[in-house]
Amino acid sequence: MKLQVVLSLCAVLTLGLQAPPPEQCWCELINVGDEFPHDKLSTADGNASDCNRNITPNKTVELESLLLGLERRIAQLHQDVSVLEREDDGELYGVLSLYVIENEVAEIWQLMDRLNSITEGDQRLTADTTKRLRALRAVMEEMETFDTMQVVRGQLSSNLLKMDPGNYKKGLKATTAPTQPPQGTCAHGQLVNITGPRVFTQGEYPGSYSYGAWGRDPEPEPGKESWYWLVVMTSTNKYSNYIRLYSSLSALFVGKSVPGNVAIHSSNPTTNTIQGPNNVLYRGALYYNCYNQPEVCRFNLTTKTVTNFKLPEGTRYNSKGNFCQLDECYPYTDLDLATDESGVWVTYTTSQDFGNLVLSKVEEGEPPRLGQTWHTSVHKRAISNTFMACGVLYATRFKTKGIEEIFYALDTVTGKERFNVGILMKKMAPNIQALNYSPVDQMLHAYSDSNMVSYKALFA
Ligand SMILES: *[C@@H]1O[C@H](CO)[C@@H](O)[C@H](O)[C@H]1NC(C)=O
Ligand SMILES: *[C@@H]1O[C@H](CO)[C@@H](O)[C@H](O)[C@H]1NC(C)=O
Ligand SMILES: *[C@@H]1O[C@H](CO)[C@@H](O)[C@H](O)[C@H]1NC(C)=O
Ligand SMILES: *[C@@H]1O[C@H](CO)[C@@H](O)[C@H](O)[C@H]1NC(C)=O
Repeated sequence: MKLQVVLSLCAVLTLGLQAPPPEQCWCELINVGDEFPHDKLSTADGNASDCNRNITPNKTVELESLLLGLERRIAQLHQDVSVLEREDDGELYGVLSLYVIENEVAEIWQLMDRLNSITEGDQRLTADTTKRLRALRAVMEEMETFDTMQVVRGQLSSNLLKMDPGNYKKGLKATTAPTQPPQGTCAHGQLVNITGPRVFTQGEYPGSYSYGAWGRDPEPEPGKESWYWLVVMTSTNKYSNYIRLYSSLSALFVGKSVPGNVAIHSSNPTTNTIQGPNNVLYRGALYYNCYNQPEVCRFNLTTKTVTNFKLPEGTRYNSKGNFCQLDECYPYTDLDLATDESGVWVTYTTSQDFGNLVLSKVEEGEPPRLGQTWHTSVHKRAISNTFMACGVLYATRFKTKGIEEIFYALDTVTGKERFNVGILMKKMAPNIQALNYSPVDQMLHAYSDSNMVSYKALFA
């Protein structure tokens, strides 16, 4: 400001002295404020770029590849140790195997050392970056005093001044710590873990029918509150034409179905046959993939009638858009029906989504129809199953024969996706053909290689 006044004063002076040409006119510019610290700004700029350069995605890539290497080598070591145990005759073979194993152990130690140094390095980097950011912030705040025109202030307050070193730290750890937890639609919060198996039974058909689904109706008719349902694929693991009901969990255990088969049709397969295992019972009606159609069918158990609706053009069906595990897909799992606190949902994939998972709400009513739809960025082949809980879609993947991982979540309220859910499920058999959440008792029901297993979902 002062500088400006001096300048305009000078201009007036110059004008005033215009008439008789002056011999000499000169103005002295006096900057009464402090001098702008250009060099400080330029180091601050340099320091900020250093911060950016130091934190690269390379760090996490390296960490992940090391972990993967370690996982592979440990598996190899395990295998070789078993060979040694089998072959050890105290003679040459034993000595040779031992030599191989010693080398493997040495390699594993090297990997561990490298891992330790990386994690230590990362911790140092985090601490160092935080310190630098604090210093930068102080410098920028100091510079702000030169902004007498208040021009930059608005911008600064909207980004740099808000830059909390704590946030930077969180960003660094993003691969391990969940960022913003999905909220979903329930009061009981976010799914944080599941228990080990709470129910395990082979039910009525021990060892038969590898494909099927079971569970509880979340909105049962009066008098059927403790009932369970079961659908098994009786024809070539693909089709079924009936549903079985049990009046309690113990009736399911001992295989005593009171109404017996509730048949959709006497033939199997034919029009309206149940195709694929991922079905659900809701308000006394079974929702499933109709035979040979990209459609959701609803079988009303009271009236024994079927109503249906079409999924979008391009929906993959007839085993073209299946759930998969490592090197095998589960045939006829194109559609997965699900229930949660808010009703019925369906997941599937379409050609226009290039095989990515799509989620739609199923609107009840007469006939039922397709509701709101979400397009995810997770490929269906990367998923082994899905379920809904509290308005949040969860997807699982095959980790080992004994462990399935709930790795992905999509919050339908915020539209946010997460790929680092990291909840592990202990399996009783290698494959899970169907997975359903029951909002009545917050249990997760799995149909796993002809076994029925359930887990309690834990929310926080
Ligand atoms: C830049 O970083 C160096 C080294 O960390 C530090 O000494 C200096 O004060 C920083 N300068 C500014 C302006 O942040
Ligand atoms: C990150 O990795 C790429 C490719 O491997 C490499 O070209 C680049 O120099 C690396 N950057 C740093 C900072 O290590
Ligand atoms: C989740 O539950 C399992 C089984 O009860 C338990 O072993 C595990 O430690 C739990 N994980 C977390 C993160 O609480
Ligand atoms: C099944 O049919 C009965 C009788 O028409 C009806 O009251 C009931 O709402 C239907 N259930 C469903 C889920 O549509």
